[in-house]
Amino acid sequence: MTTTKKNRAGRNRTVTLTEQERETLGRLISDADSLKAGFRDDMVINADMMECIDDIPDAHFDLAIIDPPYNTDKVFNGTRFGAMSSADYEDYLRGWFYKVCDKIKPDGSLYICGDWKCTASIQRVVEEKMTVMNRISWQREKGRGAKRNWKNSMEDIWFAVKNPNDYHFDVSAVMMRRRVNAPYRVEGMPKDWEETDDGNFRMTHPSNFWDDISVPFWSMHENTDHPTQKPEKLYAKLILASSMPGDRILDPFLGSGTAAVVAKKLDRHFCGIEIEREYCLWAAKRLMNADEDKTIQGYADGVFWERNSLRDMNKFVRKKKQGRKRKQAE
Ligand SMILES: C[S@@+](CC[C@H](N)C(=O)[O-])C[C@H]1O[C@@H](n2cnc3c(N)ncnc32)[C@H](O)[C@@H]1O
Repeated sequence: MTTTKKNRAGRNRTVTLTEQERETLGRLISDADSLKAGFRDDMVINADMMECIDDIPDAHFDLAIIDPPYNTDKVFNGTRFGAMSSADYEDYLRGWFYKVCDKIKPDGSLYICGDWKCTASIQRVVEEKMTVMNRISWQREKGRGAKRNWKNSMEDIWFAVKNPNDYHFDVSAVMMRRRVNAPYRVEGMPKDWEETDDGNFRMTHPSNFWDDISVPFWSMHENTDHPTQKPEKLYAKLILASSMPGDRILDPFLGSGTAAVVAKKLDRHFCGIEIEREYCLWAAKRLMNADEDKTIQGYADGVFWERNSLRDMNKFVRKKKQGRKRKQAE
């Protein structure tokens, strides 16, 4: 099934496809047969991951990012995923999770997303194969209000490794630049913060509570009509912390392509599997756009910024550029 044409506001940047693009982008997508004929890096594979995972080489990936269907009723491009008992959901996870683990290198890492309802199942199954290092709580802000329950606006991202004594984690790549509200001075000098014309800022270590990332929305270039698209900024943090340039990243539930797009923007290799062709086409278009534009909203010049700080960020980047130009001219 394909999506119906929607009327969109002038400033709406949601990724759309022309008929011509469908044809040309379609040629960039692999299927189960072409995968069988030979695996290569940087593939978007339009297939059922359960049927094609055996054709992907073992111990090939430094990082896997998994955003599976949660244990809730959801329609993906016409295909319904139905809520089930926790025991059945755990069996569903086991049906592919062990195999995905085999694809990760012995010193590799994994992130897997879930919501309050399926997170316990995910933790249980992940622990059967890997060592859980942490649980990131992402306050995604947006959520549907409920009359007889709390609004659901949090998600978990489990961080696990194959070997807790041997894995890559680079905290310096994911530092956050935050505004300082109560600047502390020692002998008149800023203590661990920077005084600028635009305000006072501090570089901080990222914690396992993330409140700086919004879900993609219609005015963002990365936005698609995928019902559960993850933000590029979120995946950029995972990828920068847990992989190096040139590393390989696997996403067996690629959706609109976020993991592949961010991997490409950050000079990593990717492999994404997605059962819905329409989503693969969106992923292919986003990958093509990434040839021209490698920016990731909320991340600039090696620094992650707080939510709603686009103006500060752009100023900071402009000043840094000017500084670099001045230095070159000297
Ligand atoms: C939660 S979404 C992933 C969204 C993705 N992280 C993004 O940023 O767009 C899960 C995706 O898995 C796909 N999917 C479900 N079962 C699948 C299967 N057996 N093989 C491949 N893809 C599948 C769905 O079509 C859906 O797009």
